[in-house]
Amino acid sequence: MRTKLTTIRFMQETPPPTVITEPTALLGRWQEAFERQAPLHLEIGMGKGLHLARLAYRSPEINHVGLELKPDRVFMAHGVCRRYGLSNVRFLMGDADKLLEAFGPGDLDMISVLFPDPWPNAKQAKHRLTHPDRLRRYQRLLKPGGMLNFRTDHASLFHYTVSVLDELEIPYQIAIPVNRPLTNFEERYLIQGREVFGLIAWPNGQAETRIPEAFLLRAREAVTQVELVAGTI
Ligand SMILES: C[S@@+](CC[C@H](N)C(=O)[O-])C[C@H]1O[C@@H](n2cnc3c(N)ncnc32)[C@H](O)[C@@H]1O
Repeated sequence: MRTKLTTIRFMQETPPPTVITEPTALLGRWQEAFERQAPLHLEIGMGKGLHLARLAYRSPEINHVGLELKPDRVFMAHGVCRRYGLSNVRFLMGDADKLLEAFGPGDLDMISVLFPDPWPNAKQAKHRLTHPDRLRRYQRLLKPGGMLNFRTDHASLFHYTVSVLDELEIPYQIAIPVNRPLTNFEERYLIQGREVFGLIAWPNGQAETRIPEAFLLRAREAVTQVELVAGTI
């Protein structure tokens, strides 16, 4: 069994072909990485990649990119996707602020930010993945009508995110899809009985593709649905 250190070194020195090592070369040409034209979904801070793999399995018609800072987690996510035989997933390994340079205006159809580090201290707000500077960046990278999919267990991060969306006049719907794929952290939190908060936003203000009400449920109700979704891919 590899140690964490050898995994990190392995990923840095000989990353598997699904890890994009020269991302800016794909600016505006992401279909080349997948050898097909398809909508593009980016998950920022995907961790061990359970949600990414589950979503990619359920939506083979979409090209998925998982972005993660820690090489050992990219290694795990890569392993999960390989085990499921998923050919519609690629990875970016490193810091989101740098790696978002890989995408041009309107390259993305959806961005997922799921259970990001909350950075609870006000002085650390600039690190939050829903800080106004980052949301403005997502706005540039998303197509008109493109969606931001956000979930957290952290009430104050959720309220902060809602206030940033209000400040930027970005439309959103506070809701969680009932039969959503769960993330690694989300599974753990739900089992512990912790509440999960979620919203879908349309950073370019084009909300006509709103998700049907029937597909959405408020956070507290969604928690009671966990038995239905946990364990399914
Ligand atoms: C709390 S974990 C959640 C992981 C996953 N989304 C889940 O719900 O299971 C946050 C993840 O974001 C990653 N992360 C934090 N800051 C990042 C950044 N600036 N760029 C890329 N990944 C980042 C961390 O390494 C970590 O894996």
